Amino acid sequence: MSVKGVVLHGGFGTRLRPLTHTGPKQLIKVAGKPVSQWVLEDLRDAGVKDIAVILGELGPDRVIEYYGDGSWLGVNLTYIYQGYPYGLAHAVYLVKSFVGDEPFIVYLGDNVLAEGISEHTKRFLESDLDALILLSQVPDPRKFGVAQFDDKGRLVKLVEKPKEPPSNFALVGVYFFRPPHIFKAIEAIKPSWRGELEITDAIQKLIDWRLKVGYSIVKGWWKDTGTPEDIIEVNRLLLDHKYPMSIVKGRVEQGSLVEGRVYIDEGAVIEGRAVIRGPAYIGKNTIIKDGSYIGPYTSIGDNCIIQDVEIENSVIMDNVVIEGNGLRIVDSLIGSSTRIKRRSSRPSGHRLIVGENTLIEL
Ligand code: DAU
Repeated sequence: MSVKGVVLHGGFGTRLRPLTHTGPKQLIKVAGKPVSQWVLEDLRDAGVKDIAVILGELGPDRVIEYYGDGSWLGVNLTYIYQGYPYGLAHAVYLVKSFVGDEPFIVYLGDNVLAEGISEHTKRFLESDLDALILLSQVPDPRKFGVAQFDDKGRLVKLVEKPKEPPSNFALVGVYFFRPPHIFKAIEAIKPSWRGELEITDAIQKLIDWRLKVGYSIVKGWWKDTGTPEDIIEVNRLLLDHKYPMSIVKGRVEQGSLVEGRVYIDEGAVIEGRAVIRGPAYIGKNTIIKDGSYIGPYTSIGDNCIIQDVEIENSVIMDNVVIEGNGLRIVDSLIGSSTRIKRRSSRPSGHRLIVGENTLIEL
C-alpha cells in the first residue's frame, strides 16, 4: 500500500501583502525555489508520488501553470479547489475520495523542515497509528497549535494558538493520517473562535475517542513562513542547509570576485568588478553588473538586472531591475518585476510609486 500526499496551497497570505496580491504565498521563491516546491520535493524524497494540491482563491492558475502535472519534479499532481479558506480541516476533508483507504500525509505548503520527513514517514507506515503529529520546541508557541502532555509524557491535549501555552512544543505543519477516523473527526468538529475548522480540533477528537495518536519531535530547524521576516530567515537557513558547495552554471567574468558558497544558475552573468560573497543564490539569466556587491544570505531571482548596489541578507524575486548608484539594501524582500532606481542627479529625494500595503524604510 502506498502513501499519498496533500499540500495545502490555499489561504489568504494576509501578512505577506503586497507580495500575495498577485499569487499565493507558497509560490514565493526562497533560495531559488518556491516554498511549496521545497515541500513537494520533500514529499517526493520520502517516497510519496501521488499528491493532491489544495488551491485557494489567490492565483490558483499560477500554481497549476508552475507545477503542471508534476512530472518534471517526479510526482503526480491532482489539483483540488478549496476557494475560501474555511480552515485546515475543511481543506483536508476535500481529499476524502482522493485518498480512499490509503494512509496520507498533509503538508502545509508554507512550512519548511531542515531534516525533511522521510524518517517520520517510515515510522508512521511501520506503525498502526491513526495519526502521527510532528512537534518542535519553540521559544514562543502562542502563534501555533500547542501540545500538552501528562506526567508520563503522553499526549493528552492539543490547543490552537493558546494565550497561555501548556508547553513549548508547537505543532509542525505536517500531519500523518490513516482513514477513515480523521474524516469522521472533521465531521464532528465546529468552527473555532477564528471561524475556521481547525485540524488541531479534529486531532483532539481522535485523542478523545481513544484512537492511536503518536508524536515525533523534529530534529533540526522548522520554519513556518507567514511573515516577511520568516521568508528572509528561511532563505538564510535553506542557503546554509541545501547548498553545501558552490555550483556555477552561469558565467563569471574575469575581474569579478566570487567567494564562499554560491549557486549561480544557467545564463546568469557576473560582470566587471562585481563581488558575490556567499552563501548566495543568483537565478537564471540574471545579470549582476559592475560595481555591485551581493553579500551573504542573499537570493536573487531569475531575469534580474542588478547594477551598482550592495545587497545583504535579502530575497529578491524574479524580473527585478535595480539601478543602485551606490544604494545599500539590507534585510529586504522585494517582489517580482519591481524597479528600483536611485537618482544621482538633482533634485535629490525619493520618488516613490508603490502598491498597497508596502513597507519602505529609507
Ligand atoms: O505552521 C504550523 C501551524 O499551522 C500549526 O502550529 C497550527 O496548529 C496550524 O493551525 C497552522 O496554523 P497557521 O495559523 O499558521 O495556519 P495558516 O492559516 O497560516 O495556514 C497554513 C497553511 O495552509 C498555509 O499554507 C495556507 C494553507 N491553508 C490555510 C487555510 C486556513 C489552506 O490551504 N486552506 C485553509 O483553509
